[in-house]
Amino acid sequence: MVQKVKNLFWDARRSLKLIPIIQEMEELKKRGVPLEKMRALEMFGGYGHQITKDYAPYFKELEVWEIDPDCEASLRKNFPDAKIRIGDSYALLKNSDAKVDFVIADTALSDNPNEHFRLFPDIFRILNDSALVILNTVPEIQLEVLSKEQSDNRKRFYNTEDPLNIPMEKMLEKYNALCKENGFKIQWWFTNDRYFMYSARKGSIKRRLVHLVMSLERL
Ligand SMILES: C[S@@+](CC[C@H](N)C(=O)[O-])C[C@H]1O[C@@H](n2cnc3c(N)ncnc32)[C@H](O)[C@@H]1O
Repeated sequence: MVQKVKNLFWDARRSLKLIPIIQEMEELKKRGVPLEKMRALEMFGGYGHQITKDYAPYFKELEVWEIDPDCEASLRKNFPDAKIRIGDSYALLKNSDAKVDFVIADTALSDNPNEHFRLFPDIFRILNDSALVILNTVPEIQLEVLSKEQSDNRKRFYNTEDPLNIPMEKMLEKYNALCKENGFKIQWWFTNDRYFMYSARKGSIKRRLVHLVMSLERL
């Protein structure tokens, strides 16, 4: 029942084109990125109803990874032409021989003290020489939802003393360094709030979730 109501909400926003990922795809097209020729990978597919469904039609091919076997039937129904793999994405990443032009890591926010940090450095091994990567970043987080474990992880990963507020420029220092260590450079990047009308709803949202869209190129 709860899932049905959530789906109705997403569908209403979808019909009004109010899903941030659609804005990101349109921005990429404006920048001349040939999405229709690209091979995309969603590393955290869920049921595919939140955002995967919206960006999938932009790409030539899609592969979806998801750990929860309960999601498999929906994924196969929503993406009949996609390659679906059920398993732990971090393990799949280590063993995959896929090469992709676009990766989105739609990691969960709650109960996920590692955010997307464990994707590195393995994510680089599946990228083609030019590739787009979209990460879920959390530049602002309320103390009440920050566990000690996540706080320590954020401090260590971003090399900061303030795990509650991490400006994008500070985050970029880390992603630039990771790229360099792994033979890539960030050509350009932009961000977009993943939450619908975040600025207006700021007071009631405990974590600011921002998509960091990066265009990478092998050095
Ligand atoms: C934010 S949801 C994904 C939403 C999805 N992209 C969509 O558009 O509906 C995050 C998903 O990551 C999955 N997940 C969590 N840990 C995982 C792991 N280690 N490997 C693969 N999937 C995982 C969860 O089961 C959940 O479905």
